[in-house]
Amino acid sequence: MKNIALALACLAAFACGSSAQKSGGATSETAPAKEENTKSNEENKKDNKMKKTLILFYSRPGNNYVGGNIVYLEKGNCLVVAEKIRSLTGADMFQIEPVKEYSEDYMTCTEEAKRELSQNARPAYKGDIDISSYDTIILGYPIWWGTFPMPVFTFLENHDFTGKTIIPFSTHEGSGLGSSVSDIRKLCPGATVKDGTAIRGGSAARSDAEVKRIVEAI
Ligand SMILES: Cc1cc2nc3c(=O)[nH]c(=O)nc-3n(C[C@H](O)[C@H](O)[C@H](O)COP(=O)(O)O)c2cc1C
Repeated sequence: MKNIALALACLAAFACGSSAQKSGGATSETAPAKEENTKSNEENKKDNKMKKTLILFYSRPGNNYVGGNIVYLEKGNCLVVAEKIRSLTGADMFQIEPVKEYSEDYMTCTEEAKRELSQNARPAYKGDIDISSYDTIILGYPIWWGTFPMPVFTFLENHDFTGKTIIPFSTHEGSGLGSSVSDIRKLCPGATVKDGTAIRGGSAARSDAEVKRIVEAI
């Protein structure tokens, strides 16, 4: 009799336990939906937009010309800006990195870049990204000899930007955006290319106002 009572108690406990688990499972399954529901439509729309936004950029650490001096940059200026954009948006990032690295020495790098520009070269970049699921591309680059580095030309030519919106930004030491925006328009004829934002390289770490404007353009 005692045994039957024990068995019944165990069954009851299991039944309670399993129903608690079920409702626990259901709670944890429905919890995110509840969380979503607490967000306004505007917030949900913004989240979806950010999921479809890619921060695509080029940046070179090493010796560079900043405010009249040659300075060693542990982290390139465009990377600093790209990270600020990511911290506001949570958007994916892809860095265009050349297979053949440019010299860390500033003067040598300017010579290498000048040669490539005059040859209209298309240097290869490392890896790749499928951009088809992104509607908006924030495209950041340093100005080299008045436009973006040649590996960015390679990347833009290798992908189809038709129907996408491109929001350019540059970091520079006096040229602003140079001819970069018109170069993007030539290379990506099917895209809507917004007016770009130019940021002084030496001000990259203090570019919150410009970054806000870039993000507002999404
Ligand atoms: C090869 C080379 C060419 C450059 N040409 C220009 C130029 O034509 N105009 C300009 O304003 N700055 C020029 N700069 C300065 C860079 O645009 C500037 O330092 C930029 O912030 C670098 O960004 P990064 O650190 O993300 O690579 C040049 C720098 C390099 C290395």
